[in-house]
Amino acid sequence: MQVFNQVQAIRDQVSEWKQARLKVGFVPTMGNLHAGHLSLVRLAQKSCDKVVVSIFVNPTQFGPNEDFDSYPRTFEADQQKLQELATDAVFYPSVEEMYPNGLKQTLVQVPADLTGLLEGSSRPEHFDGVTTVVCKLFNMVQPHKAVFGQKDFQQLVVLKKMVAELAIPIEIIGAPIERDSDGLALSSRNQYLNPEQRSIAPKLYESLQEMAQQLINRPVNFAELENKATARLLHEGFDKVDYVKVCNPATLRPASEDDKTIVILAVARLGSTRILDNILL
Ligand code: PAJ
Repeated sequence: MQVFNQVQAIRDQVSEWKQARLKVGFVPTMGNLHAGHLSLVRLAQKSCDKVVVSIFVNPTQFGPNEDFDSYPRTFEADQQKLQELATDAVFYPSVEEMYPNGLKQTLVQVPADLTGLLEGSSRPEHFDGVTTVVCKLFNMVQPHKAVFGQKDFQQLVVLKKMVAELAIPIEIIGAPIERDSDGLALSSRNQYLNPEQRSIAPKLYESLQEMAQQLINRPVNFAELENKATARLLHEGFDKVDYVKVCNPATLRPASEDDKTIVILAVARLGSTRILDNILL
């Protein structure tokens, strides 16, 4: 497995593979890899001959009071895990390599009807950072396909929109959420939780499952369901509920009674750690 730090070098490698008619898959990450990330690599390997994983903690998607400086950087361990999966290449650029003209540069911006709500309402500019860096990574790596987790449901919807509207010739594949044995969705930020918070965290998924059950069983009032779930989460010990919303999975707007598919999106906080989860029905 080769590690590339320079844009030109990864481009040359991918171009060589393409000339040999090999399908190239891509999994962008911020590192600190866990089984969730690794499941994306496996999924990419299923339909591609070569898989590139990028590791880059992207400064432009963190807000001023967020955890950019303290975000766990564990390159040695990440490399080991990717090696074990027989990943073909790792793209591990510096901030200077990604943003040679500084962080204030050309932005890729998906309109606010998808980016200004849910995660975007508590993290302004977050999605501009995500779409800009992913668009750059796509231009640098130039894969045939890219895999993203449904764990970050809104991110996946926003990136699909970007690719469609900018006519980027890359197929976006959504991968299911990997969970711990108690149901908690795996996340690099779970390690910030103390033992008591860790024992409360899986109750978010339990609440979502209960909501899903009620939605499947009978017609229910969505707002009432959201309010009940919020009250339950606070009662279970979460410190704050940013949102629990029953949405249309394409528009991310509140679901209507005749929507055929529905996604329940939720974020609740334990201390300053945000636990993010969702269920697609
Ligand atoms: P990061 O948080 O490192 O996540 C990288 C990819 O792993 C994302 O597609 C995310 O949805 C997926 N992922 C995380 N936890 C998962 C889980 N439990 N199950 C399945 N997939 C999971 O998301 C980012 O990085 C960044 O925003 C990035 C797209 C790399 C742009 O900087």
